[in-house]
Amino acid sequence: MHEFTLHSYEGPAGLRLQDAPEPTPGPGELLVRVEAAGLTLPLLRTLRGHGRAPLPHSPGGDLVGRVLAVGAGVTTHRPGDRVGGIAFSGVYAELALVRPEFVTAVAEDTPAADALAVIRSGLVALAALRTGALAPGESVLITSAAGGVGHLAVQLARALGAERVVAAVSSPAKADFLYGLGATEVVGYADLADTDVLDGLEPVDLLIDNAGGEPLAAAHAALAPFGRLVVNSGAGGTLDAGTLLRGMHTATGLAMSQLSRHRPDFVESCRTELWRHLATGALRPAVTAFPLTALPEAVALMERRENLGKVAVLPTAGPTAHA
Ligand SMILES: NC(=O)c1ccc[n+]([C@@H]2O[C@H](COP(=O)([O-])OP(=O)(O)OC[C@H]3O[C@@H](n4cnc5c(N)ncnc54)[C@H](OP(=O)(O)O)[C@@H]3O)[C@@H](O)[C@H]2O)c1
Repeated sequence: MHEFTLHSYEGPAGLRLQDAPEPTPGPGELLVRVEAAGLTLPLLRTLRGHGRAPLPHSPGGDLVGRVLAVGAGVTTHRPGDRVGGIAFSGVYAELALVRPEFVTAVAEDTPAADALAVIRSGLVALAALRTGALAPGESVLITSAAGGVGHLAVQLARALGAERVVAAVSSPAKADFLYGLGATEVVGYADLADTDVLDGLEPVDLLIDNAGGEPLAAAHAALAPFGRLVVNSGAGGTLDAGTLLRGMHTATGLAMSQLSRHRPDFVESCRTELWRHLATGALRPAVTAFPLTALPEAVALMERRENLGKVAVLPTAGPTAHA
């Protein structure tokens, strides 16, 4: 089978597609034929040497696929099951090993790209909006609104009844895409940092921050008195205590790992709700899909911050017989 591995911390240039032996599921593992694998910011950081993953490294990420074989002790899944979730290594490949506890069922009639967008990015987006307690009629500002998580958050916010959805992005080139998803206003990060522009923006009830860093601080200034903000970005950032204090703001962190561990019922209810929004058409994932062989190009698109929606690779290999 074919698998991408990282050989140097040079971003897309450090990736090599290689022939690799078919993995065999060990105890408690599933062997999955990958239908779609997603790209995320942690992947971009790994490829540039953040975390100094030992080389060669076979990165993990979100995926959708079909179980081909199960390892000893697995009772939750059977060959033929369609699943989606995350794997901690080896997803940019035709076959991947995953842990059953990190995947859930995917319906047969859901296209792989749609399922991929929903399974992780959609879950994060809805968990953030629910954590922020978005109520019908409220306004919400979403940063990195055109990304895999952000573009679903924009649509979900409208589906939950938000009256105003302000989408914040790094480039005005993303505006048409966002208006098409239901955003009512689109602003650039530079606009948020400009007091004249900010003064003209009606403050929002809720901020969902997917960007971190400077955009987080700028967006915070747009929060209305008694507003809430959900820190969702792994990129970090600094909140101004004075702005929090004067605004009576409530800030909440969001970590899916903690939610899954300590609030599994909440995560499950978000998942059920997500599939419903997909079925009703309220959620329409936008996925830029590349063949597996074009993973470096897909990474480069994201590094240029030009992606509109979720970025994915779709391995084209057919089913692999596995005894
Ligand atoms: N809290 C959790 O448990 C959790 C779980 C998963 C993901 N997340 C967070 O959700 C956010 C988006 O998730 P994702 O990783 O799946 O990616 P994604 O949603 O596909 O986001 C990509 C977007 O991030 C923005 N961006 C910000 N900094 C960037 C950079 N240095 N390089 C390229 N793009 C950058 C770009 O939009 P602009 O250029 O318009 O900003 C781009 O469209 C991230 O902040 C991530 O940490 C949180």
